[in-house]
Amino acid sequence: MLDVVKLNKVYVVGLFKRKYIHAVVDVSFKIREGELVSLVGESGSGKTTTARMILRLLRPTSGKIFFEGKDVWQLSKKEEIKDFYRKVHGIFQDPYASYNPLYRVDRILYQAFNLFDRELDDKEKEELVKESLKAVGLNPDEILGKYPHELSGGQRQRLMIARCYMLKPKLIIADEPTSMIDASSRAGIIQLLNSLRDNYKTSVLFITHDLGLAYYVSDRIMIMYRGRIIEEGEPDEILSHPQHEYTKMLVRSAPLLYRKWEDFV
Ligand SMILES: Nc1ncnc2c1ncn2[C@@H]1O[C@H](COP(=O)(O)OP(=O)(O)OP(=O)(O)O)[C@@H](O)[C@H]1O
Ligand SMILES: [Mg+2]
Repeated sequence: MLDVVKLNKVYVVGLFKRKYIHAVVDVSFKIREGELVSLVGESGSGKTTTARMILRLLRPTSGKIFFEGKDVWQLSKKEEIKDFYRKVHGIFQDPYASYNPLYRVDRILYQAFNLFDRELDDKEKEELVKESLKAVGLNPDEILGKYPHELSGGQRQRLMIARCYMLKPKLIIADEPTSMIDASSRAGIIQLLNSLRDNYKTSVLFITHDLGLAYYVSDRIMIMYRGRIIEEGEPDEILSHPQHEYTKMLVRSAPLLYRKWEDFV
C-alpha cells in the first residue's frame, strides 16, 4: 500500500548564516492494507514533516515514497494526481491552515465531490454531506452555513474528518487528529477511523505524542526521535521490551499501567 524508502528532509534556515536542520533522516517503513500504524515521538522529531512529504505537500530532499506501487513524486498526469488525492487523505494538527477562509463549510465539503470518480445527483450529495457531519458528531443545521473561522478548533478538526469520511480513502495520514478534540469525544473519532478501516480496509498512519493512546489503537508502533525511526514493533512488544533509551523513557513516563481504554473515553 504505502512504501517509504530512505526519506530525508533537510530544511535550510537563517538569513545571514545558513543552518541546516535535518528534520527527517533515512526514514523507511511500509504500511499494509487495513493496517493502523502509529508514529510516536516528541515535539520536533519530524512527524509532521514526514506526513507532509507523503501527502505531496513538501518535497523530500532525498528518498522515495510509493503508493500502490507508484512513486508519488513522479505522478504527472492530472488523472493520476486526482486519483492520489481521492485515495490518500490528510487530517492535520492545525486544520485552519488547510481551509480556504472565504469558503463556507458546505462549499468546503462539496469540493470533495470533484475528486469522486462517479457523478452523484444532488440528493445523494446532500445526504452524504449530512451523514458525514453526523458521523463526526457535528450538527449539519448548525454548521453548514458557517465560515471556518466561525468554528472552534475541535469543530474544524471534525470537519476535516467528515471530509475524509465522504471520500472513503485508502490511506489516511492523521497528524494529531484529535489534538483539539475534548477527551470525551476523542474515542468516538478514533472509533470512526477504526470503522473506516474495518469497512473499507483503509490504512492509517496515526501520528501522536501519546504512547498510551497509540498502544490502544495500533497494529504497529514506530518511535521517532530526532528525525529517525529508532524502533518499531507491535504495541505489546514495544511496551514490554523497549530497546532504545528514549523508548524506555517514553514507556516509563506514560502511566500505562494505570490507564484503561475508559481513560480515553
Ligand atoms: N518550514 C520549516 N522550516 C525550517 N524548519 C522546519 C520547518 N518545519 C519544521 N521544521 C523543523 O523541523 C523539525 C521537525 O519538525 P516537525 O514539524 O516535523 O516536528 P513534529 O514531530 O511534527 O513536532 P510536533 O509534535 O511539535 O508537531 C523541527 O526541528 C522543526 O523546527
Ligand atoms: Mg507535528
